[in-house]
Amino acid sequence: MTTILGLSGSLRRASFNAGLLRAAVELAPSGVTIEVGDIRDVPLYDADEEAKSGLPPAVERLQQQLAAADGLLLATPEYNNGIPGVFKNTIDWMSRGEGLRLFKGKPVAVMGTSPGGFGTILSQNHWLPVLRYLRCSIRAEGRLIVSRAGAVFDDEGNLHDEKTRELVREFVAEFADTL
Ligand SMILES: Cc1cc2nc3c(=O)[nH]c(=O)nc-3n(C[C@H](O)[C@H](O)[C@H](O)COP(=O)(O)O)c2cc1C
Repeated sequence: MTTILGLSGSLRRASFNAGLLRAAVELAPSGVTIEVGDIRDVPLYDADEEAKSGLPPAVERLQQQLAAADGLLLATPEYNNGIPGVFKNTIDWMSRGEGLRLFKGKPVAVMGTSPGGFGTILSQNHWLPVLRYLRCSIRAEGRLIVSRAGAVFDDEGNLHDEKTRELVREFVAEFADTL
């Protein structure tokens, strides 16, 4: 059994990126489980809080999930041509304590979707130096960029477009094959 930790970088109820990750969960090949991590309760990083109280429970939980996973799959939105703060904040917290050891060598794939025509290409690029610093094993051979999200997701953020679902299926299978 292969396990992948999946994180979506949006807190929006009907998030397209959370929907993309749900599609990945549904379309993962047999023998591959994508466990979705919860970033909602991760507080803003504060070094004073960390010194006083250590890692918050939500971060500890994510670290445990990362430790148990064979790979990490990020579904990233794009804000102002870069990584959304809530998502980077989560990874920053996760890199604390034992975190650097957990990221080191971890296979990571990045995908994303946005309503515009460039489908998070710039925020996906923005992740690369972060993941390189964390010494992840970046799986960048293929890209999953879903543009014009409004046309392929419904109002609840579910991916209904069959062609795009096929791309998700292929992307996850190719990533899982490398694990
Ligand atoms: C602060 C902010 C900045 C944004 N900047 C971009 C951008 O640079 N490129 C882009 O394609 N979409 C941008 N958007 C639109 C997002 O792609 C859109 O809100 C998308 O639905 C967010 O992902 P989600 O549906 O998973 O929450 C921005 C949205 C916000 C709130």
